[in-house]
Amino acid sequence: MSSLTHNVTLNVNFISKHTRLKPKVAVILGSGLGALADSLSDAVAFGYHELPHFPETTVAGHRGRLIVGRLEGRPVALFDGRIHFYEGHPMWQVAFPVYVAHKMGASTLIVTNAAGGINPAFAPGTIMLIRDHINLTGTSPLIGPNAPELGPRFPSMRDAYDPGLRESARRVAAAAGIAVAEGVYVAMIGPQYETDAELQMLSHLGADAVGMSTVPEVIAARHAGMRSLGISVIANAAVPSASADGLVEEPSHESVQEVVRGASGDVLTLVRGVVGMLEG
Ligand code: HPA
Repeated sequence: MSSLTHNVTLNVNFISKHTRLKPKVAVILGSGLGALADSLSDAVAFGYHELPHFPETTVAGHRGRLIVGRLEGRPVALFDGRIHFYEGHPMWQVAFPVYVAHKMGASTLIVTNAAGGINPAFAPGTIMLIRDHINLTGTSPLIGPNAPELGPRFPSMRDAYDPGLRESARRVAAAAGIAVAEGVYVAMIGPQYETDAELQMLSHLGADAVGMSTVPEVIAARHAGMRSLGISVIANAAVPSASADGLVEEPSHESVQEVVRGASGDVLTLVRGVVGMLEG
């Protein structure tokens, strides 16, 4: 058994001692989206520091706790606080929560994040369903010996973002009167924001939004055979300053969190609605 599998099993055993719920869905919350965590019923919360070998999150706006509870009656594992590669964690640890949730029984992953809007039509506050991603982190959570009990050595990334889940999200959005865009998310390693030249490159590559997360978790989910839905909140314009009319405001972590908090009610409605539409 690999040490990754061993650590996953330790967590599953620990969590199972405190709750009988077997989560069907894993939700990973991005910056400023922690409010969802407070809306679970039958909830049991674990600080990441309480969980065996669980990485700690160090970023403001990421609380660092796992809540197992019910959302729309469905058992979910909600990770309030994401682990980022730029915090210095090895890539396999960034994806660790996904494997823990999968081992507990989750077959669906919902990830939310804050992102910069490369597509000039995506103003701050836009909610974008991720159609596909470009991994520009230069690495992968699957680097290292493969643990065959977790997934195959060379997993497919076709439909990494499940079309059916996206369709559910569109239906929930339409019913609730929430406008949603759709696009390609590119992951950079961070933690610095992009230069103008990088933004120009990302635009040429076909990306609509840029961020520093999500891609590792979705790669791991696909590896484990899970379906994924990705929801980005466009928090700032990520366009070269020379290309826009007037001065483009530079992103800051505080302004990013503020814009995301403004959209969090709608994101919560989408997540809740999609979870409610899942079978079983
Ligand atoms: N770039 C990268 N990551 C981000 C951004 C951005 O402009 N905004 C929020 N996360």
